[in-house]
Amino acid sequence: MDKIEVTLYVNNKKETLQVDPTERLLDTLRNRLKLTSVKEGCDVGECGACTVILNGEAVHSCLVLTAQVDGYEIFTTEGLEVNGKLDPLQQSFIDHQAVQCGFCTPGMLMSAKALLNKNPNPSREEIKTAIEGNLCRCTGYQQIVEAIESVTQDKKG
Ligand code: FES
Ligand code: FES
Repeated sequence: MDKIEVTLYVNNKKETLQVDPTERLLDTLRNRLKLTSVKEGCDVGECGACTVILNGEAVHSCLVLTAQVDGYEIFTTEGLEVNGKLDPLQQSFIDHQAVQCGFCTPGMLMSAKALLNKNPNPSREEIKTAIEGNLCRCTGYQQIVEAIESVTQDKKG
């Protein structure tokens, strides 16, 4: 199968790769770029473990072909930490005991970050809607919602 050249801007770094037309973005990020925060769960868009931010939108990377996103900007959880400093959202997850297994957490962070980038002051309902595509088997949603809520504009001051 002929490879396709794609250029991705991943966590603000330019990456040019040759990919098979059928290669999923999940595999490109995890296996080729070693961004292992992007977890592989259900593979059919149901668990949210593979969520990344693609041109500003939280998407399930298991459902995206890399060849489709040539030139796109992608953020993974690795991109949240800047100069060794955690993003306030990451710190809030720690402070609220919202990190339990670590498997669903990166996807949750990506969904929450995409929401806060667009809407810095979401309601509790909007937060719940933003993370409804991310499953947590530990039923730990309460702490997760509180962690996200605590970094909204109203709560920061
Ligand atoms: S692995 Fe992509 S949604 Fe589950
Ligand atoms: S904290 Fe990850 S599945 Fe619940």
